[in-house]
Amino acid sequence: MKSKLVVGNWKMHGSRASNEPLLAAIVQGRPYGCDVAVCAPFPYLTEVALAFAGSDLRWGAQDCSMHEQGAYTGEVSAGMLAEFGCRYVIVGHSERRQFHQESDQLVADKAKAALAKGVTPIVCVGESLAQREAGETDVVVKRQLSAVIHTLAHCAGEMVVAYEPVWAIGTGRTASPEQAQAVHALLRTQLRAATAHADRMKILYGGSVKADNARSLFAQPDVDGGLVGGASLKADDFIAICRAAG
Ligand code: 13P
Repeated sequence: MKSKLVVGNWKMHGSRASNEPLLAAIVQGRPYGCDVAVCAPFPYLTEVALAFAGSDLRWGAQDCSMHEQGAYTGEVSAGMLAEFGCRYVIVGHSERRQFHQESDQLVADKAKAALAKGVTPIVCVGESLAQREAGETDVVVKRQLSAVIHTLAHCAGEMVVAYEPVWAIGTGRTASPEQAQAVHALLRTQLRAATAHADRMKILYGGSVKADNARSLFAQPDVDGGLVGGASLKADDFIAICRAAG
């Protein structure tokens, strides 16, 4: 059986004071019986890397540039991340699609830039509440994933996909295990048409994953782990979620 993956997305949270005990607790909490990673803000990545050194814990960033290098003030390239041992980079999070107008193609180009440097992109897809209510969930997530599949071509099997319904992010309104499974199965079918590796690829669920709902979500056949926001900032909650995936 493939191991599950739990990724903490700190978003724009953290501080020198709060990171240290949180990271120490995550290290202390091992073993989890699943793969675990933390995606922290750029300034804290070295701190995460040092805290996790010598363990099987991984770390990642929350975005990267589609460019290799150049005059792109404020951007960080996948190559810079890779130099320090970065394993994952989240691309296409709904907060970036919404607040930074990231298009499906830009997200795909970022995923390609990451893979070119050996960093695994965690590609987020998900519908808004209005889109779900209009019955457009399938069309929206398929369109978002399709852009990435086409751009990555024969490398598509190397990404991690995260289904994050926008209406479930930070709202406490988690998708039911059945709702998550239905979309994950759809994404898996789409991946199967594109790559022979679809069945060993990881499709994570994100959106109000908590210690008390993680187990039932992770029990779904196409839910291969979670992308955890708020609960990844509390050591006890994050550890409980990781254990639920083990
Ligand atoms: P919450 O777990 O806070 O809902 O955030 C989910 C998310 O956006 C993870 O990337």
